[in-house]
Parts: sequence; structure tokens; C-alpha cells
Amino acid sequence: MEALVIEGGVRLKGEVEISGAKNAVLPIMAAALLTHEECVIRNVPDLRDVRTMIRLLESMGVEVVWKDRELRIKAHSIKEPLAPYELVKTMRASVLVLGPLVAREGVAKVSLPGGCAIGERPIDLHIKGLKALGADVDIEEGYVIAEAPGLKGALYIFDKVTVTGTENILMAAVMAEGETILENVAQEPEVWDLITVLRKMGAEIEKVEPNSLRIVGVDGLCGFEHEVMPDRIEAATFLITGALCSEYLVLKNARAEHMVAVIAKLRECGVEMEVSRSAISVKGADVIDAADVETQPYPGFPTDVQAQYMAMMSLARGTSVITENIFEKRFTHAAELRRMGANILVDGNQAVVRGVEKLKGAPVMASDLRASASLVIAALAAEGKSRISRIYHLDRGYEAFDKKLEALGARIRRVKE
Ligand code: EPZ
Repeated sequence: MEALVIEGGVRLKGEVEISGAKNAVLPIMAAALLTHEECVIRNVPDLRDVRTMIRLLESMGVEVVWKDRELRIKAHSIKEPLAPYELVKTMRASVLVLGPLVAREGVAKVSLPGGCAIGERPIDLHIKGLKALGADVDIEEGYVIAEAPGLKGALYIFDKVTVTGTENILMAAVMAEGETILENVAQEPEVWDLITVLRKMGAEIEKVEPNSLRIVGVDGLCGFEHEVMPDRIEAATFLITGALCSEYLVLKNARAEHMVAVIAKLRECGVEMEVSRSAISVKGADVIDAADVETQPYPGFPTDVQAQYMAMMSLARGTSVITENIFEKRFTHAAELRRMGANILVDGNQAVVRGVEKLKGAPVMASDLRASASLVIAALAAEGKSRISRIYHLDRGYEAFDKKLEALGARIRRVKE
């Protein structure tokens, strides 16, 4: 286990490169299962979750070559369409192989992911979608067993907006016989990066306003080459870091069009930012005004930025109410921020944050990916030294976060626990 030791109070400054998006590259890697041909994925971030997905694909007999930021994946033949519990429990996004495996092999055995720190995380809507397409799906000993000699196009309405649910059923439908209509689909940019890839592979997918997709099944799909979109959640994390703890930061490769809600909310707090075609610059704010926020599916304010925003509200002028509408337990970072002097009252899916003059460094513990980022931001802004343990959570979704911060002037080092 490793921890981060951070000396707060340093004003960061400089340029930071935003890496490829974790939540885009994972479904795109799973899409490679839909063809026997070679798939080339570029701008791949070096993340624990990417390495886990590689291990999962290789365990099925898929060839994966990873050089620099380029992945070459060739699912020539599938040895066994199985995603074992040992892997799925470390990364729930492993369930993204379910749809492609049923589409390609007609059978899949994927462990149920189980819950995690932010919520129970069911996949009932994934299973209902596969059944709608004609698959027989049972749950046996903690595994989803799906079988379908041939999937048939159908109308399927998602009871709730689900990102990986949309991606899974979409990948199952692209080779189903006939037409599939998916209603109430997720609109996240990462879903559209996957759709771009599936279209490159020969899939027929069109958007039907406002939130449906129409898919006409094809007999087979070919390989693709694709450059993964930049990570809008990493970019949002650096915008908040810049607002709170920098003179200025320039985020290179950030795509402002994917971050409209976040940029609008930061401007409401008085944060100054400049947007250009492929970069966003942010100036450190002397005073940050408190502003309420509610997390929503895209294009609303992302749940994956809620924890980082709470760190910023801890030092804002005034009181803010943060409402978490997506996950039922996504406030674990509040207790850790309180250890640093934050004044936060959690009541159900709402947190009332009263801004304080300053935070003081303390030993704290990361519990999930975005909570870890929230604690890093708070530690950078706090007076004195903090030690953040269990930072493997951070390494799952942020590429070299400590190195990027160090290059901006942060006093941060990684130590063995
Ligand atoms: C994706 O998770 C992201 N992960 C999450 O990012 C992100 O927080 C989440 O979408 C919401 O934007 C990846 O893309 C790999 P959901 P996902 O299905 O797909 C409920 C991060 O920090 N639900 O959109 O698992 C669910 O419980 C991670 O990078 C069902 O009830 O989330 C939740 O309340 C964390 N039944 C809501 O829907 C289902 O079958 C949204 O979940 C599926 C979901």
C-alpha cells in the first residue's frame, strides 16, 4: 500500500496535459471483442483500471500489446467468455465485456460486480436489456450467465439513465438481427466516443432526439483505429485545483464543450477561466463564493466531480448545499474533509458545507477514486502536512496525478505505507 504526503499552502502554476478518458477507453477496449480483426487505440492513459481490463481480456485469450500510449487488441478467438470475480471485484467496469461476449460468442459468464464505497451499484438494467434482446440470463453463485444463440433487435427503455448499461446493451445490439430502439440512454461524451468507434467498425447507429438510439444490426464488424477523447473528469479536477491552489494553470487537451456544467458552476463561484480550442486556463481565486450544486446525468453537473467540488466549497465564502442524485453513498470524503477542519453536515443525499477560513493538514484515508482526488485538493490548499493513505484508489483513474502536481510546484511525495 502507498500513501501521499503533501505539504500544503504552495501556489501551483504551469501547464498540465490532460490524459485520455478512463471512462471512454474501458468500453472501447471491450468493443474490441466484437471483431476478430486488430483494433488500435491511441491516447490510452496509464491507469490501474486499464491494466485490469488488459488482464481480463488476456484471461479470455485475447492478444493485447501495449506500447507507450497505444493499445493493439486482437480478439482472434475467445478461449473462455468468462469475467472472474477476482477481477470484476477490483473493477466493476469489467461488466462491459458482457454485451460484447453475448453478441460475439452467444454466451457469457460474468461475475456480479458487488457494491463499492459509493453505492450498491446494481446491474439489473444491463440484465433486463440483454433479456429484451432475447438472451436467457440467470444469476448463479454470484455470476451472470447469459446465453443467446442469436440476439434479436427490440425496443428497450432504460428505467434509469445508466452509462455502462447504455454501453453494454449498445454493444450487444450492433450485431442483433433487425432494428433495436434504446430509449432513455446516457448522453455522456464517453458513450459518444464508443459510438464513434462502433460506427468505425461498421455498426449502424443513429441518434433519435432527445435521448434514444436506433441501431440496425449488421452481420459482422471490422477492426478500428481510434484516439481516445481527453478525460473531462481529470480536467475538472485540475480546474478546481487551479481555482483553489494556484496562481494559474493551463490545461492542455481539455475539451470545454464536454464541461459546460462544470465551467458554468465554477464561474458562478467567481472562478476566472479562459477557454480556447484545445486548452482551458484557470486563475487562482482569492475568494471563492459558495454555490449550491446538484449532480445529474450528462449534460448536468457530473457526480464524478462532486467530491472535488466539496473540497472547494469547504474553503468558500458562505454556505453551499451539495445534492448527490446519482449514487446513494457518495459522501465518504466528507468525514475525511472534516478531519482537516471542514464544516460539513451530511443529511441523506445532501451535504451542507459552511466555508471555513482555512483547512489544516491531517492524516486522512481515500475511499474511492474521486474522494481521493478531493482529499489531494484539500491537502494542497491546507496549512501544514497531510498524509493520504490507500491511494491505489487514485491510481485507478488518474494518470500520474502526483507527478503532474509535482511538476506544477506541489510539495508531494509517494511513500510506502
Ligand atoms: C459510470 O458508472 C462511470 N464508470 C462512473 O464513474 C460514473 O460515476 C457513473 O457512470 C455515473 O456517471 C464508468 O463509466 C466505467 P451508472 P456506472 O450505471 O455506469 C443505477 C468514476 O469515478 N443503476 O450510470 O456504473 C446506479 O446504482 C466512476 O470514474 C441501476 O440502478 O454508473 C446509479 O445510482 C465512478 N441499475 C445510477 O443508476 C443498473 O443496472 C447511475 O449509475 C445500472 C445503474
